[in-house]
Amino acid sequence: MTDSRLAGFYNLDLAQRQALLSASTGLDLSPIFGSGGLDPARADAMIENAVGVFGLPLGIAANFVVNGKDVLVPMAIEEASVVAGASHIAKLVRESGGFRAEADPSLMIGQIQLMDLDDPVGAESALMAAETEILAAADAANPRLLELGGGARGIEVRRIEQSSFAPNLVMHLIYDTVDSMGANSVNTVLETIAPLIEAISGGRAHLRILSNLADRRLARASCSIQPQTLSFEQYDGEQVRDRILEAYAFAAADPYRAATHNKGIMNGIDAVVIATGNDWRAVEAGAHAFAARSGRYRPLSRWSTDDRGQLVGELELPMAIGTVGGATRSHPVAQVCLALMQVQTARELAGIVAAVGLAQNLAALRALATEGIQRGHMGLHARQLTRVEGTHHE
Ligand code: MEV
Repeated sequence: MTDSRLAGFYNLDLAQRQALLSASTGLDLSPIFGSGGLDPARADAMIENAVGVFGLPLGIAANFVVNGKDVLVPMAIEEASVVAGASHIAKLVRESGGFRAEADPSLMIGQIQLMDLDDPVGAESALMAAETEILAAADAANPRLLELGGGARGIEVRRIEQSSFAPNLVMHLIYDTVDSMGANSVNTVLETIAPLIEAISGGRAHLRILSNLADRRLARASCSIQPQTLSFEQYDGEQVRDRILEAYAFAAADPYRAATHNKGIMNGIDAVVIATGNDWRAVEAGAHAFAARSGRYRPLSRWSTDDRGQLVGELELPMAIGTVGGATRSHPVAQVCLALMQVQTARELAGIVAAVGLAQNLAALRALATEGIQRGHMGLHARQLTRVEGTHHE
């Protein structure tokens, strides 16, 4: 386990940071030290009409302790202050014991839209009665995943009353994708079993596609912080804590603020999701749909105090990400980032990503509730400009 404190990392120059990281992890980190790690020939094999490669800065957030383990957090992001903000909050949380995090099993939901049903009620009962047969057909469609411990776990049937296509049913297949994000597996299985579903229901299987509202695959993180560690300039710790709670109350009451609050969370989440080669659009779609699940758009995190006056943060959101499959394996930088994090399973990765989201949220709230966001942001921005000017004489 590499010590994630990386003392003084921030003040080193680029070459010194690279040397320190290599020495402290003992890993060959050369793929992440270049200008993106993806050569154009590999990019050409990944997408159509490729003409080049788009680079992003890759930073390491320091100080993270999640479930008692130090973890180095790779973040791919172009926005200044994000890596510093996460590292800073991780340092404060570390002093109070670190983050707690967990994630559900990797249960994805695949949807089959059923149309032209003469008897929707009868179709619903027929599907539920045939659950065992449907699950067996789904498992037969992807024996590889079954060997890895995954596979079909259940079905559910929903009526979509408001649809202009009503009467309309949707069958959900609940499918464990283990350590993969699982979109390909789910979509393949749905397309394979669709004729069976048509035969059982008497309807026409129209769309067969996974849902990005992966609410069976939630990740959770929490932290408790002693108020004194939050003190800042003229504000004592209790004041900062209370001002953070006021900021949270604003997000809880107002969707306009909640969107920005959640954007701050996703600053941290997306950066790790991208660095590990995962599909950040899927994570974004799941997060915002989950935030609106009550019918009103709400903050994904919750801030409160416990009976000891500590600031307590909790975050819960869908986290459909993997450690195998797709770019997690084909992108050389993603592979090294996963090795850096020393995570083996998708669930472990999902918990850490949630902890980073919570840290990022607190970094933003703490700045907003005290000095305002611009001072910190603009300080870094100025530093960046000086560096770029120094390098390129622009
Ligand atoms: C900026 O990228 C993110 C923030 O706007 C988040 C927030 O307002 O909570 C600072």
